[in-house]
Amino acid sequence: MSAEGSDNVLVGVIGGSGLYHLDNLTFIKHVNPETPWGFASSPITICALPSGTKVAFLARHGPGHTINPSAVPSRANIAALKSLGVRAILAFSAVGSLKEEIAPGDFVLPNQIIDRTKGIRPASFFEGTSVVAHTAFGDPFAGKFLKWLETRVQKVLEENGSGSKLHTGKCIVCMEGPQFSTRAESKMYRAWGGDLINMSVLPESKLAREAELSYALIATATDYDSWREEERSVTAADVFKTLQTNADLSRKVAFTVLDELHAAAAEGDILTEEVGSMQFAIMPRS
Ligand code: ADE
Repeated sequence: MSAEGSDNVLVGVIGGSGLYHLDNLTFIKHVNPETPWGFASSPITICALPSGTKVAFLARHGPGHTINPSAVPSRANIAALKSLGVRAILAFSAVGSLKEEIAPGDFVLPNQIIDRTKGIRPASFFEGTSVVAHTAFGDPFAGKFLKWLETRVQKVLEENGSGSKLHTGKCIVCMEGPQFSTRAESKMYRAWGGDLINMSVLPESKLAREAELSYALIATATDYDSWREEERSVTAADVFKTLQTNADLSRKVAFTVLDELHAAAAEGDILTEEVGSMQFAIMPRS
């Protein structure tokens, strides 16, 4: 599995709905490592920035969006990226907004998650083994990485002049789907303190932590879900309306930050928080 690591690919990008490729990068090759959890959602594209820096890109739902959120092979995705030598994952995902101030088209760096997929999706590399591991997940995203992203994403949004705002420090609810929430559920998530909702940040972020990879999510709002009394509840058509514009802007963000992110991953200053975090997660055998 680790034979691919010689490419010096330190950063992996996971694209969500609408984001099936990156722009302005030179295609180098596709790799499709088989992991103990099978194959990733799609072959991973290794591509180069104009500087020559290589990055890995993986389409979470497959290149033609054929994999529904409940069936995404997250263990294989994370294991495959790790096998390439990736240390940091920049993930993108379309989300619904549970807050008036987060409008469709806005970008968000969440720092908390509420799990509504628990017990449904395989969420640990240790499942089915005799190892009992309790991973620290109080802060589910890589803190220094989030802080690092904040100014850089903000700058791209401002320069782009699209009017998209950046929100930070928000809580994302990850639901099972594939149907959207009922109005009652949507209101309940708001009452719980949820700011956003999607179907994809879990178990991906949990598995990245188990793999000791730095993981951050750039959430791109497409709709107001189903909590607004005066509006009809969200439909896939609402999501599609904003998806393309959000994906175009996500590609600009990725292109702008990837070189510097690779350098940061190489130097290890902002992206080493998670390394060694599993050291005390494994229960000692008596
Ligand atoms: N992804 C985009 N919008 C969503 C919503 N309203 N609920 C769940 N996942 C979503």
